[in-house]
Amino acid sequence: MKIYSIVIKKKIKSFKKSLYVDGDKSISHRFFLLASQAFGISKANGILESEDVLHTINALKKLGVKIVKKNNKYFVYGNGLGSFHVKKNLKVNCGNSATLVRLLIGLLAPYPNKFKLFGDYSLNKRPMTRIINPLKKFGMEFFPKNQTTLPLTVQGAEITIPIEYDEKIGSAQVKSSIILASLNTPGITKIREFKKSRDHTENMLKHAGLNLKIKKNKKYNLISIKGLTDFRAFNLSVPGDISSAAFIIAITLLNKKSKIKIKNVSLNNTRIGFIKILKKMNAKIKIINQKKISGEKTGDIIVASSKLKNINCPKYLVPSTIDEFPVLLVLAAGSIGIATFSGLTELNKKESPRLNLMNKILNQIGIKTVLKKDTIKIYGNPNLSLNKSHYINTMFDHRIAMSAFCIGQIFGGEITISDCHSISTSFPNFLKIMKKIGAKYETKKKN
Ligand code: S3P
Repeated sequence: MKIYSIVIKKKIKSFKKSLYVDGDKSISHRFFLLASQAFGISKANGILESEDVLHTINALKKLGVKIVKKNNKYFVYGNGLGSFHVKKNLKVNCGNSATLVRLLIGLLAPYPNKFKLFGDYSLNKRPMTRIINPLKKFGMEFFPKNQTTLPLTVQGAEITIPIEYDEKIGSAQVKSSIILASLNTPGITKIREFKKSRDHTENMLKHAGLNLKIKKNKKYNLISIKGLTDFRAFNLSVPGDISSAAFIIAITLLNKKSKIKIKNVSLNNTRIGFIKILKKMNAKIKIINQKKISGEKTGDIIVASSKLKNINCPKYLVPSTIDEFPVLLVLAAGSIGIATFSGLTELNKKESPRLNLMNKILNQIGIKTVLKKDTIKIYGNPNLSLNKSHYINTMFDHRIAMSAFCIGQIFGGEITISDCHSISTSFPNFLKIMKKIGAKYETKKKN
């Protein structure tokens, strides 16, 4: 991977465009992981070909899964549950992807072999206790004992035991890891989901014909999975990623006289907190052409320049906005009034400590904030216009890099953004699309 930074010296001009964004990352990962457990050949188009997803493909190939790409479609030759071919002392590089590690470990539950999993600098810092605890209950073991981060050696169990688990973080990765372990486990596994997180795993399994039961109670959703139930291969059309669309939406909203149509984007209800918050902030956003494709809601998003007003954001919208927070905080910086966002603990557990880092970046560009534990107050300035140079350290975090790019396009100044190669982990066509809407920038390779 070539390491480079980006320098922006000019704000973007008005634009009017219609475009597509890259495929949804969460859905792309899950296609390969779930298709590897299905019977028969599953097929998908629109797959996100980012570093993270390529790591998932490589990890599965190492486990003996045949994956072929032909005419822009991916084919996964699934041999059913428990069909991985495991070699001795297998080492898997998960790159930057917490989704890959956490979900893959779930699938490794029924193999009593040892697997070594490691990641890059950022992934090796992410908390793993959240999956270690439930997976130990299935009978898995983790080495070294008491280690809470990667690199980790994991060992499955000869016979796994179904569990009952209360998921209180609001993490789709934890929920999905348990669901994937339950697929290869005799008996019924039950998850009480207290904070609703993205439900792509559940949707895809249902789409593949698995009878996964979800009962909605006042306090939680009860997900029940009957293990060792085969499911068939499936076809999937992956919509665009709302988390990638978010950066284009942000630039359009705060730029003058601009309009964008982003076609065929995932509008799953557990992912559209960003749109709901922006509508409360007076954003001109319209959704048209809504459909349900392969078990997921999709549609076209139309956005026009808007005078945004800051709000006191309700906590319940946090899980469905989680990956969009860095750019949402940039939008709050350019809006009228004071914004308050709370319940953001999880934000500091992402690819970088995003809440602390965004707070620092906003201060760097002259925005007043008050940060207290998991709450941030942002004193918006709709007239913010930068005229000095600023160096933004992204800590190798793709979403921080793209949010910083938005700062340069919207507020001007001379913005240098470090380590932008991270962008290819989630949105490889980001710069191409930015060029299409008229963004000017230079890239500088690091020697
Ligand atoms: C993801 C879930 C979220 C999200 C991540 C992708 C997924 O993480 O932040 O980018 O695909 O399941 P958590 O489950 O840790 O909240």
